[in-house]
Amino acid sequence: MANPQLLIDQLKLLVGTPDSYGTEEQRHEIKRLGRLASNVLEAPFETMQRLPLPLVAARIGQDCHVFSTLAAGQDSVDLDTISQASGLEPRILESIMDYLCNQGMAVQAESHRYLLTPMSRLLLLPLFGDAVTHFVRSHDNCLPGFTALHRALKEPRDSTLTAFQLGQHTDEDFYTWMETHPTNQAAFHRFMKAQFASLPTWLDVLDFKTELGCDAEATDVMFVDVGGGNGSQCAGLRRAWPDMTGKMILQDKPQVLERALQVEGVEKMGHDFVREQPVKNARAYYFRQIMHNYDDDVCITILKAHIGAMGNHSVILIDDKVLPDAKPPPRCARGRVHGCSQSGHEGNV
Ligand SMILES: C[S@@+](CC[C@H](N)C(=O)[O-])C[C@H]1O[C@@H](n2cnc3c(N)ncnc32)[C@H](O)[C@@H]1O
Repeated sequence: MANPQLLIDQLKLLVGTPDSYGTEEQRHEIKRLGRLASNVLEAPFETMQRLPLPLVAARIGQDCHVFSTLAAGQDSVDLDTISQASGLEPRILESIMDYLCNQGMAVQAESHRYLLTPMSRLLLLPLFGDAVTHFVRSHDNCLPGFTALHRALKEPRDSTLTAFQLGQHTDEDFYTWMETHPTNQAAFHRFMKAQFASLPTWLDVLDFKTELGCDAEATDVMFVDVGGGNGSQCAGLRRAWPDMTGKMILQDKPQVLERALQVEGVEKMGHDFVREQPVKNARAYYFRQIMHNYDDDVCITILKAHIGAMGNHSVILIDDKVLPDAKPPPRCARGRVHGCSQSGHEGNV
């Protein structure tokens, strides 16, 4: 039988010095067991209440200036100050603060006085602002799709309606919809760029110059970033190989390209990737975070649209989330696997 007081004392020590606690493996196991412990200890009604609300609470904390007001305080900040900054009535705000404290997004230092926590500090960073915007912004980005998923799953098998379309009451797909929602679109692309910024990239596992760049002529197209978003990977390749001979092309929807980075030597080209690839004989056609958005048949359509463009030296590079068929152990679930596949000119990937 676990000794509750011993466990509480140990957890307090851990919370005080999280970084120096145990090995990476042990920290992972503690996180996993901590979540399990929380799940088994909470009452069923607590579980039901917990499920949908943390993202919503994070959004309120950001949008109503709760976190920024806590960050601006030298010490703990009182409820009235937060109320003035947020425009929320103290009575309502107090309930919200209770929930934020419960979720680790604030701490009640003393009665009606609050402090920022490491989590709410994170939520103030631009990247995590964008992350919450992408997932939950005014409930009009991903969240309505999540909440419609149960209905989408009951659609007839041949239905092409997605949960996003059902949730948003729109006929448009996510990317088309974003064209008329520029704030959401900008947050999405910043998030795309930043979410993997601290992880190794495809350029850490592929020596582009040695493997694909030999004998390049100035007229050769070296790299086509298909659905390349804001062009961060073209910029990365330029940094990795500053004096690259040959051209780079960034393809995406025209409206996305208007806001893309200006990278020296990169040509922007509006192109729909389900249509025939107009750039022929490129050394590499690169797809980052594209395939996981689609069912197999659309992925096949996208790949087939490239077969006719591929020459003897062309390859397709797919940089995406890859999961093994067997359920991965929990600690691998967050990792990203780089799948860089070389194809023949038949276009097999
Ligand atoms: C998940 S984002 C990935 C962006 C970029 N590759 C990255 O990794 O940062 C998907 C991209 O595909 C683009 N896209 C969606 N549908 C497209 C289409 N039919 N043709 C071309 N690009 C498309 C979107 O505008 C978006 O930039």
